[in-house]
Amino acid sequence: MAAERTFIAIKPDGVQRGIVGEIISRFERKGFKLVGLKQLIPSQSLAEQHYAVHKERPFFSTLVNFITSGPVVAMVWEGEGVILSARKLIGATNPLQSEPGTIRGDLAIDIGRNIIHGSDGPETALSEIALWFEVSEVTDWIPSDYSWRT
Ligand code: RTP
Ligand code: MG
Repeated sequence: MAAERTFIAIKPDGVQRGIVGEIISRFERKGFKLVGLKQLIPSQSLAEQHYAVHKERPFFSTLVNFITSGPVVAMVWEGEGVILSARKLIGATNPLQSEPGTIRGDLAIDIGRNIIHGSDGPETALSEIALWFEVSEVTDWIPSDYSWRT
């Protein structure tokens, strides 16, 4: 069975606040494996597709304007249970309700500037990885001490 993967993006506020390393470190320390990583300023079209589920919401244009306003660090992380676990590491959408210890709970206060995105389920993870990454940009690799898992 293919290893579980999820799409994670550090939004422009996280990049501009200089907390990219802090965020990547939390996923590394948890034990997940980084298999895709790039920085880009998303196009309007990419942002609209990414947030298509919210297109009827009143905050849609604000959200798209924000996510296209500067560099985003796009990532694919791999590991058992990574989709749900990443959502737990990230914390609730509104940082004022995120538990301390979570990324948003520790590092943010504003729902519109909540630092990070993570796929919310298996189908979304597949479609978001395909939307943001070429197949050739995602790297299959096996850590040398993972042999006991196979
Ligand atoms: P994300 O998609 O960014 O990982 O966040 P999420 O699943 O926790 O939250 P979601 O409901 O998908 O909302 C997407 C992003 O829209 C912004 N938002 N603003 N003003 C508002 O009431 C409002 N609600 C949501 C947030 O930045 C949220 O991350
Ligand atoms: Mg979402």
